[in-house]
Amino acid sequence: MSDAPARDREVVAGAIFREGRLLLAQRTSPPALAGRWELPGGKVEEFESPQNALARELLEELAVEVRCGARIGVDVPLSPGLVLRAYRAELVSGEPVALDHAQLTWVDAEELLSMDLVDNDRAWIPELLAELSAL
Ligand code: C5P
Repeated sequence: MSDAPARDREVVAGAIFREGRLLLAQRTSPPALAGRWELPGGKVEEFESPQNALARELLEELAVEVRCGARIGVDVPLSPGLVLRAYRAELVSGEPVALDHAQLTWVDAEELLSMDLVDNDRAWIPELLAELSAL
C-alpha cells in the first residue's frame, strides 16, 4: 500500500473559445439536468492525465481534436473524492457536433448570462465572462 495521500478523482470540462464566443452543450441526462447547458467533458480514467481525458472526452462528445490548455476558475467539489475542473481547450481540427448532447451553441458574454447552466458550471461564470469580454 502506498503512503501517498489519495488524490481526488477529477471530472474535466472544456472551455472552447472562438471569435468572441464560448461553446456550450445541452445535456440529455440525467433527467434532473436534461435541457441544461454545460461545458462538455467527463471523468478522468484511472492512470489518465486530465489533459488526455479532456482530449478523449471532446473527441467522443464533439468529434473534434483539441489541445488542453490552462485551468479556468475554481475547483468544484462533486462528491467526496471527486472534483470538477475546467480547462481551456483549443480546437485543433474538426467542427464540433453534438454526438452526446441535445445540441451545441456558441454564446457571447451577454448570452452566457441568460443560459440555464448546470449549477456546478455557474462557479466559472466570472472567469468565462472575463475571457469573453477580453476577446
Ligand atoms: O458528463 P458526465 O455525466 O460524465 O459528468 C460526470 C459528473 O460531472 C456528473 O455529475 C456531471 O453532472 C458533472 N459535470 C458537471 N459539469 C460539467 C461536466 C460534468 O457538473 N461541465
